[in-house]
Amino acid sequence: MKYFEGKSILLTGASGGLGREFATQLLDLGAHMVLCDLKLESLDRFKSYSGAGKVLGLIAGDVSTKEGTEKFLADVKKIIACPDMIINNAGIAQVGPFGEIPLDRWEKLMAINLISPMRICHYFLPDMAARGSGHIVNISSVAGIVPMPGGAPYTASKHGLKGFSDAMRIDYSKQGITVSTVHPFFTRTAILESERFGVNIDINDYPQFMIETPESVIRETIKAIAKKTEFILPGPTAKFLDLVRRFAPGFLGLAKLF
Ligand SMILES: NC(=O)c1ccc[n+]([C@@H]2O[C@H](COP(=O)([O-])OP(=O)(O)OC[C@H]3O[C@@H](n4cnc5c(N)ncnc54)[C@H](O)[C@@H]3O)[C@@H](O)[C@H]2O)c1
Repeated sequence: MKYFEGKSILLTGASGGLGREFATQLLDLGAHMVLCDLKLESLDRFKSYSGAGKVLGLIAGDVSTKEGTEKFLADVKKIIACPDMIINNAGIAQVGPFGEIPLDRWEKLMAINLISPMRICHYFLPDMAARGSGHIVNISSVAGIVPMPGGAPYTASKHGLKGFSDAMRIDYSKQGITVSTVHPFFTRTAILESERFGVNIDINDYPQFMIETPESVIRETIKAIAKKTEFILPGPTAKFLDLVRRFAPGFLGLAKLF
């Protein structure tokens, strides 16, 4: 996949389940990566990387606040003026009826999942537009196209990220900027162990064939990004749920019964 060779890519959440796969697979395809996460030591595995691509820099940053994101962006700028591609992947989840999730928790979720990707895009878009090229990849979720039971804030943040991306695409396509959103179904990563409030949803209650692996989700996603696909649905369940919401949306209401 020539698309990634020598491309500078900023990736957030790079030490998480999906982020680590993104970083590893993109480096193998020759990308030049700036890898970011909350704690520097969580990125240690990439210190000694040698292969087709390059690790341009490892950055610790907390994107849950305005100050944290501004500091993070200033640190990125010291390494690279304007990346060819940005992958907004950092994210958190919570599960529970909305009224039982403490306000500071869901506000933090909205800041990390929605406001921070918007801040990061806002920071780099003028330079990308002036250059006439750029690719923004926002990691949404199946919860960005259908509601997730017990996940009102997560659903809001991921629908918001899709809506934001769709609107940006209209505004910036003439300036050579591609915007992709990615909508994975449940995938085996640490996010499945997220905070729970008043419920105990167990991922093991789902038919296990439906749960994706990070390797396959990211492999399919990377192929789609290389084709400049705008709306990426990795895995069979994501594709199936997209068909349901388009052609039989009434079935989504059945989730209330469980
Ligand atoms: N795993 C799934 O089932 C699934 C499904 C659909 C979408 N997603 C999305 O994929 C993305 C990656 O999630 P994952 O499954 O790899 O989960 P993960 O928990 O393994 O990784 C998330 C990463 O984000 C980082 N992060 C969290 N808060 C941060 C902050 N304040 N500042 C900087 N970094 C922060 C974490 O340190 C972690 O490395 C998320 O946006 C998530 O919503 C995941």
